Amino acid sequence: MDPQKQKEIASKGGKAAHLKGTAHEFTPEEAKEAGRKGGRAAHQKRMAAANIRHRDIGEPELFQQVESDHERIDSLMMRLGDNAQSEKDSLFENLRDEIETHAMAEEHSFYPALAKIPECEGIMSQSRREHSEIRDLLSQLEGMVKEPGGEWLSRLSNLKEKVQQHVAREEDQIFSKMKEVFDESTFTRLEEEFTQVKRRENQRPAA
Ligand SMILES: [Fe+2]
Ligand SMILES: [Fe+2]
Repeated sequence: MDPQKQKEIASKGGKAAHLKGTAHEFTPEEAKEAGRKGGRAAHQKRMAAANIRHRDIGEPELFQQVESDHERIDSLMMRLGDNAQSEKDSLFENLRDEIETHAMAEEHSFYPALAKIPECEGIMSQSRREHSEIRDLLSQLEGMVKEPGGEWLSRLSNLKEKVQQHVAREEDQIFSKMKEVFDESTFTRLEEEFTQVKRRENQRPAA
């Protein structure tokens, strides 16, 4: 059958089911799950588009490094929400270290470089504030990880939301600003600084 025709029939069927009251009504949990899957799919689509962009016009290596950290952090947060209680401890430790190392690397490379530009002061202080809110949420979660009940899950969902908003701001507004104001050699220097801080933090013995 013509795919367009098929789509029309399906859409009419859906509308009829709604009118008759036989359409599936989502519970809040189902709606949440569908939203989560949708968010994940949208993220994957965004990452795929970003990868194509990088290959086509040679985006700075720094963006790829930052985006690949974001992707790893996102996947750890998803796994942490899905996993059995026995694995939460080590997954959480992994997530906390990834976020802390990433935030430190940003705060010692492109954050101070952008903050020196007067028009970027506002967005950079907002981003630093978000780092601090994310660190607070991590500390709260850390204190409760031995008994991760409903309250723990609700704070984990606050963390996911906060991190996802922050990442979207960095990959959209902050990356565009950087492309406007930095030349190639600045990008190279910032990428070296970002990598160096990450290496140093990763070698630091666990507290
Ligand atoms: Fe950040
Ligand atoms: Fe980031």
